[in-house]
Amino acid sequence: MKIDGTPYRSIWREGEAVRIIDQRWLPHELRVVALPDRTAFATAIRDMWVRGAPLIGATAAYGMAVALRADASDAGLEDHWQVLHETRPTAINLRWALDRMRAALAPLAPADRPAAAMRLADEIADEDVELNRQIGLHGLKLIEKIAARKGRVNILTHCNAGWPATVDWGTATSPIYHAHNAGIDVHVWVDETRPRNQGAQITAWELNAHGVPHSLIVDNAGGHLMQHGMVDMVIVGTDRTTANGDVCNKIGTYLKALAAKANGVPFYVALPSPTLDWRVRDGVKEIPIEERAEAEVTHVQGLDPEGRIVQVRISPTGTGAANPAFDVTPAHLVTGLITERGVCAASPAALKAMFPDLSA
Ligand code: MRU
Repeated sequence: MKIDGTPYRSIWREGEAVRIIDQRWLPHELRVVALPDRTAFATAIRDMWVRGAPLIGATAAYGMAVALRADASDAGLEDHWQVLHETRPTAINLRWALDRMRAALAPLAPADRPAAAMRLADEIADEDVELNRQIGLHGLKLIEKIAARKGRVNILTHCNAGWPATVDWGTATSPIYHAHNAGIDVHVWVDETRPRNQGAQITAWELNAHGVPHSLIVDNAGGHLMQHGMVDMVIVGTDRTTANGDVCNKIGTYLKALAAKANGVPFYVALPSPTLDWRVRDGVKEIPIEERAEAEVTHVQGLDPEGRIVQVRISPTGTGAANPAFDVTPAHLVTGLITERGVCAASPAALKAMFPDLSA
C-alpha cells in the first residue's frame, strides 16, 4: 500500500539487505531499518518491531536466509530454526514458514543454501501478498451484499490485521480496501486494542493514509454500537485457527464475538491458509497464549507536548498486571472464515472441503 504516494511493503529486499518498517514508532514516525543478522531478526520479532501473524512468518523466512550466510551447516539450519521459532509462541505462521524453509533447504548442499533460502523467502513474501489480495476479493462480495441492502457499511475491526501485519494488503483490511476502491461507502470502527494499541496506532494510521473513513473507539464501545445497529459486520484477523475452526486472535477478540452473537451481527475472520494449524483441534485447550510484559499494561506510549515519543505510567507503582496477549473465539461464534479460496463455515467439515490438499 502507499505511504504519502510511495508504494511500500512491510518487509522488502534491497539487494542482499532486508529492510522492515520498525512498527514500534507508528503512527508518529516512519522508521525503516535493515536487519543484518539472526540476532536482529529474532529481536525484531520478539520485541514487535514487526508483528502480525503473516509478517512474523515472512520475517522468520528472511531471518533464516540471512542466518544461513553465517552458518549453512546442518547444525546451523537446526539452530536457526530453534532461535527464530522461540521468539513468539502463538502465531502459527512462524512455524509454518520455518518448517517450509527447513524442508526445502535441508536436502541442498550447504553452499547452495543461502541463495536458495533468499529466493524461497521472496516467494513466501510474494505469496502472502497474493493470498491477501484473494481474501480481499472474497470479502468484497460480503460487503457488496450489505451495501446493496443499506448503502453505508459499518465494519468493526480489532487490533491490526492490516497491511503492516502482512507483507501487503492485510487480511481483515483487504476486503475493506477492495470495497473502498470499488466506490462502496465503507466506514470502519477501529478498536484501540489495549494494551499495545495496535488499532489506535497502526490500523488508524493505515486507513487514514488510504482515505478510508474510520472512527477510533475504545475497546469497550463495540457492544454498545452493536446494540444500536451501528455495526453491520465484524472482520478480524487471526494468529492461529484450528482444524475445528476455533480462532485465536488478539486479546479482546472473544468479547467482540460474544457481543456480535448476542446482537445478531455477522462475525467474520480473514484467514490465509498458512494461519491454519491442522494439528490442533480445541483452540482453548491447545493453543499457547503469549504472556507479555506487565509494562505494556501499566504504561502507555504516545507523543509528549514537545513531539517526543514517550511512555507514561497509568497505574500506581506497586500494582502488578497480567498481560495475556491473545484469546480464543470458539468456532460456534464465527459466522464465516474468509480464506484465499472463498468463504466457508468455521467447522472441521467446511475447512476440510475448502483445503482438501492441506488438511491432515
Ligand atoms: O501481537 P500482534 O500485534 O502480533 O497481534 C496481531 C494480531 O492479533 C492480528 O490480528 C493477527 O496477527 C492477524 S494479522 C493479519
